[in-house]
Amino acid sequence: MATHESRLKRVLPKIHTDRTVLCLLAPEFAELMVRFRMENQHHLTRWEPSRSSYFFTPAFWKAQLSANVDSFRSGQSCCLVILNQNENEVLGVCNFTQIARGTMQSCHLGYALAAIHEGQGLMREALTAAIDYVFLELELHRIMAGYLPHNKRSAGLLKRLGFEIEGQARQYLRIDGKWQDHVLTAMINPFEPDC
Ligand SMILES: CC(C)(COP(=O)(O)OP(=O)(O)OC[C@H]1O[C@@H](n2cnc3c(N)ncnc32)[C@H](O)[C@@H]1OP(=O)(O)O)[C@@H](O)C(=O)NCCC(=O)NCCS
Repeated sequence: MATHESRLKRVLPKIHTDRTVLCLLAPEFAELMVRFRMENQHHLTRWEPSRSSYFFTPAFWKAQLSANVDSFRSGQSCCLVILNQNENEVLGVCNFTQIARGTMQSCHLGYALAAIHEGQGLMREALTAAIDYVFLELELHRIMAGYLPHNKRSAGLLKRLGFEIEGQARQYLRIDGKWQDHVLTAMINPFEPDC
C-alpha cells in the first residue's frame, strides 16, 4: 500500500471551487505573488511578521514557490495560492505548514486575502475546499490556527469553518515586530471514524 509520502510525490493539488482555483503556484508565476504582496503590503502589515524589502521581489518568490513545491513533495507543508478562475490574479493564500506525522498527524494554518476581495465569502469558500483536501487527501487529524484577539474577521472565519477555541497563548507569535498573545483554535478531521 502507498504511504502518505509516496502518494504526495505523485500529485500536486489543483482544487476548483465556484469562484477560485487553489494550487501550489509554479515558480514561473512569481510575478503574480509579487503583485499580490505589493498591493496588500499595508493591508497585511498588522497581521503578519515584518517583511524585508526582498520579500517583495520576483527573486524571493521564485525561490519561495520552488521551496513550497519541494516542501509539499517531502510532506512538510501544503502552501496553496488562491487564484481567480482565469488563474491570472492571486486572491490570497492559505498555508498548511509544520505537518507532523506519527502520533500527532497535525498542521498549522495561516491565511491572507487581498483587501479588495474581503467581505465576499471567498476565503471561506477556498478554505472549505482546502480543509477537505487536507483531511481527505493528506489524511491529517488536526488543523491548528491562532489569531490575534482583536482580529474579528479571522475569528469569525474560523468559527464559521468549525474551528473550536482551545485556549490562549501569551506572546505566541512575533507579528508586526512584536510578540503578541493569540487565541488558539483547532479543527479535528470530521471524516475519520471515531477510535
Ligand atoms: C481573515 C480574512 C481572510 C477574512 O476574510 P473575509 O473575507 O472576511 O472572510 P470570509 O471569506 O469568511 O467572508 C466573510 C464575509 O463575506 C460576506 N459574504 C459575502 N458573500 C458571501 C458568500 N457568498 N458566502 C459567505 N460569505 C459571504 C460575509 O457576510 C462576511 O462579511 P462580513 O465580515 O462583513 O460579515 C481577511 O480579513 C484577511 O486576509 N485579513 C488579513 C490577514 C489576516 O488577518 N490573516 C489571518 C491571521 S490569523
